[in-house]
Amino acid sequence: MRLLLYTGKGGVGKTTTAAATAALAARRGVRTLVLSADAAHSLGDVFDLHLSATPLPVSIAPCLDALEIDARDVIEGHWGQIRAYVVELLRHQGIDEVVAEELALLPGADELATLVSVEDHATSGQYDLIVVDCAPTGSALRLVTLPEVAHGGFKWLLRLQRAAAKIAEPIARELVGTPLPKAEVFAEAERLLYKTLEQLRARLLSKETSIRLVVTPETMVIDEARRSLTDLALFELASDAVVMNRVWPDEALREEFFRDWGRNQQERLRDVETHFSPMSMLVAPLQADEVCGLEALAAHGEVLFAGLDPMAVLGTRPGLRFERNKQQASLRLPMNGRSGKAVQVLRVDDELVIGVEGRRRRIALPAGFASLEVERVLVESGELVVTFANDPDLGTTPGEHP
Ligand SMILES: Nc1ncnc2c1ncn2[C@@H]1O[C@H](COP(=O)(O)OP(=O)(O)OP(=O)(O)O)[C@@H](O)[C@H]1O
Ligand SMILES: [Mg+2]
Repeated sequence: MRLLLYTGKGGVGKTTTAAATAALAARRGVRTLVLSADAAHSLGDVFDLHLSATPLPVSIAPCLDALEIDARDVIEGHWGQIRAYVVELLRHQGIDEVVAEELALLPGADELATLVSVEDHATSGQYDLIVVDCAPTGSALRLVTLPEVAHGGFKWLLRLQRAAAKIAEPIARELVGTPLPKAEVFAEAERLLYKTLEQLRARLLSKETSIRLVVTPETMVIDEARRSLTDLALFELASDAVVMNRVWPDEALREEFFRDWGRNQQERLRDVETHFSPMSMLVAPLQADEVCGLEALAAHGEVLFAGLDPMAVLGTRPGLRFERNKQQASLRLPMNGRSGKAVQVLRVDDELVIGVEGRRRRIALPAGFASLEVERVLVESGELVVTFANDPDLGTTPGEHP
């Protein structure tokens, strides 16, 4: 089951590109589901259909289903107990019930619900390809990094449960000062922690999942996409292609008014090719009108993929990696134009905490690194290089010891 997620800055053509990919794949006989994970759904609009009325996928053509996910529906279905606890907790602190209900949609809950829904369809056996129209970059990055980040949060919740179980309920209530969650809440949290999050993480890290970035020939748009490559690399998420959308066709550029625009566009196409390689660059022209309806979308897909298979893995990108040779043990992370000032590195027990402009990941050190101290952190040839202190055994295998 191939999973493709499209993201990029607001308005660049994410929905159009996701729908065009799905329409083309379905036309070629691939059982495809295209779904919108952007709370501001517009998938129905591009297909000229009303999708929001149903929580189930709607068949819109042979081999093609579409769905707009309602995160709140999924939350009610999957985590009623946890939500009830959070509402109780907030009300206990004097917060009005209606406000508490709103607040109980914890940050990340929508994203988690979306991923759970994607996973349900991915495991249904009904589809060979799922194409996700994501929200703009920041929110989409929260979506794809959430299973790992939430894992840490739930661990804390479970620790609290264990601690509370040791103390008599009234004392605990006094100490904690809030109602204690019921056992079922923890049962759900545990299920969520060990099963769902692990499963979602595995799905996102799978070789069959790719995140595709949509850009237009504008510097700000390209810069944002380039920065997001570092976030994706930090979480070891794979990106195989960048879509350059709305490229002015030659006939328009022959007009006097567009001459400078044409020169700039060439430059930005070259920039994208340089900065995103060896990911594939797919180019889509600015069409004469908005791209709406199944026919127009499939035709747009034909031009965009220019003979390539829309569901193939179209390229790779070096990510975060640990390297060890006789001279050095290091961790490397491509910085994609970011300076060293954006990075923080901290060693905590057997983990390395790496922060890149507010996004932080705890990475378990692999065997052989856990006993080494961090010696140096610098940005070298466009990569963050964390060097570990030399250890006398470095590079020798047990058999080579004198
Ligand atoms: N290559 C193109 N040629 C002509 N029009 C296009 C092209 N790509 C997108 N559009 C039009 O631009 C508008 C925005 O596209 P789209 O909705 O796909 O962007 P988006 O990135 O999903 O936006 P949002 O961030 O709001 O979700 C739509 O009206 C769409 O039809
Ligand atoms: Mg959109």
